Amino acid sequence: MRILGISAFYHDSAAALVEDGRIVAAAQEERFTRKKHDSGFPRHAVEYCLRERGGSLADVDHVAFYDKPFLKFERLLETYLAFAPRGFPSFSKALPLWLREKLFQKSLLKKQLKAYAPAYDWERRLLFTEHHQSHAASAFFASPFQEAVVLTMDGVGEWATTSVSLGTGHHLEMRKEIHFPHSLGLLYSAFTYYTGFKVNSGEYKVMGLAPYGEPKYAKLIFDHLIDLKDDGSFRLNLSYFDYCTGLRMTNRRFDDLFEAPPRQPDELLTQRHLDLAASIQLVTEEVVLRLTRALAAETGAENLCLAGGVALNCVANGKVLRDGRFKRVWIQPAAGDAGGALGAALCAYHVFRHQPRTPAAPLDAMHGAYLGPSFSQAEVESRLAKLGARFSTVTDDQLIETTVEALADGKAVGWFQGRMEFGPRALGARSILGDARSPTMQSLLNLKVKYRESFRPFAPSVLREDVAGWFDLDADSPYMLLMADVAKQHRREMTPAEQALFGIEKLHVPRSSIPAVTHVSYSARIQTVHWDTNPRYHTLLSAFKKRTSCPVIVNTSFNVAGRTRRAGRLKRTARLGWRRASVRDTAVPTGDPSPCCSNRPLRRSRESAERVPRGPVNLRRVLRDLRASAGRESRQGVSFPVKETP
Ligand SMILES: [Fe+2]
Repeated sequence: MRILGISAFYHDSAAALVEDGRIVAAAQEERFTRKKHDSGFPRHAVEYCLRERGGSLADVDHVAFYDKPFLKFERLLETYLAFAPRGFPSFSKALPLWLREKLFQKSLLKKQLKAYAPAYDWERRLLFTEHHQSHAASAFFASPFQEAVVLTMDGVGEWATTSVSLGTGHHLEMRKEIHFPHSLGLLYSAFTYYTGFKVNSGEYKVMGLAPYGEPKYAKLIFDHLIDLKDDGSFRLNLSYFDYCTGLRMTNRRFDDLFEAPPRQPDELLTQRHLDLAASIQLVTEEVVLRLTRALAAETGAENLCLAGGVALNCVANGKVLRDGRFKRVWIQPAAGDAGGALGAALCAYHVFRHQPRTPAAPLDAMHGAYLGPSFSQAEVESRLAKLGARFSTVTDDQLIETTVEALADGKAVGWFQGRMEFGPRALGARSILGDARSPTMQSLLNLKVKYRESFRPFAPSVLREDVAGWFDLDADSPYMLLMADVAKQHRREMTPAEQALFGIEKLHVPRSSIPAVTHVSYSARIQTVHWDTNPRYHTLLSAFKKRTSCPVIVNTSFNVAGRTRRAGRLKRTARLGWRRASVRDTAVPTGDPSPCCSNRPLRRSRESAERVPRGPVNLRRVLRDLRASAGRESRQGVSFPVKETP
């Protein structure tokens, strides 16, 4: 049985193919189009997935979409109605787009897919999963566990922003959720916005800045912005945020609390911004730890799976692992919305079609996340020749030898081999490599190769068998999603003068014998390299260790500031707290329905005129009709009978 999963129309569009329960292909659209976070229909990714197994869409048993557009639209309407008349400008901006495209995503999807299989029976074969159900399925069914607690956290899906489910065999039972607008992901994004970075992509920068600051504002955040309970459930104080009603994340009251307006993107970073980053990072870690501790106590489970955008916070993940409440922690490498495509396909196969799990490889079912396109020697040579590149061909042994010498010589090396990674991290298939022992490698790569901020840290690849000797970690971390400290014997203590330095001045102080991958806090975002999943990269690291006695190298992506790497081209170089998952209602205050607003004619753009009803629109009636018509796609109970399956 073949299932094609698709995520699209929000951000990070992707496609994934599951065949008889095995993950056979997955790719993100941005890798083909070079549009970062490309949100369009993932045409290239779909075509690649179909090509990978040599079939057409007609050979696919089901197409599964990663969320439910009707439920999302319901959230938009209910949020507006709850806050009306506040928020009308942003609502009126969003509504035409929803009416034009998003509300009719099912038709849009069918239209796009019909080009590949005109006679396909869409009524029977097109399935929809809920957003957090997709995240949860991508984490549990791809993990090595037969039983696990699954925690998903992100900005927002339809309503859920945090969810807990229990996985057993091929069953995945959603237990409880926290609903919009109370969202850990949106809280982090609010600080991303406030510190002058782009929401949805700048969160990594905030995490990277945090070690340079002091968490001076954490108490202020706990006192004013978030009401955190012992079980990790939380409620945000919405009077400080504008994301429900405006086009900004935070508002004037937020500015007053932190005594300054948001930083502009081109404004200089100051110690205050570093302290803000450290503060929100600490708060996030505390929320995640309370959640995982409560879940461990509540369920007695030994295994934890994580997914959703917040699960890309490797510092928090590392703390969860070290906390020891769960014996093993597994994080979906494509934890963001691209992974929803994979989750939707896995969910359709196991949950909707009741198919058993196929035993995963010892590590997991992700094949090292090497699920994207690969290219033959002839294809690569032909492409290089077309580009007029000067090149020579070498044997595998020569390749390893030459690369090791270049690395040891302090050079940055472009490394392109095998199948492309699925997920945001470069894992030794499309990577820029460097010598981790070099004290100048971090700023050299940042400023001369990646054209990005000098504080941005780099991550190490280390042989799995050597990880415990170099880091305070003795576990698999194949996807660079766990942070751990450099082992004591490899650290270099700072002199009193160096200790007196502030914030980013510490960047140039070497902290260990592998300074290029050691953050200011002695930590590192680790990728363990395994022979089973990437033998050539493992061989390279082994040869580098033989040459230098160091089994660690710098590994970073081909991304340069503002652009993404390409798949097919060689580059030169609760109302409050928890709610039962079966109860779908809103956490938004109900608000006073204002006739002047709910009956106000909506402003129409020319493009949307065809779809937008003419004359006054009664939004409450739209919502009622919407619920009635979306009944089939709405969640009906804890077992998610999303749609009758054939
Ligand atoms: Fe998500």
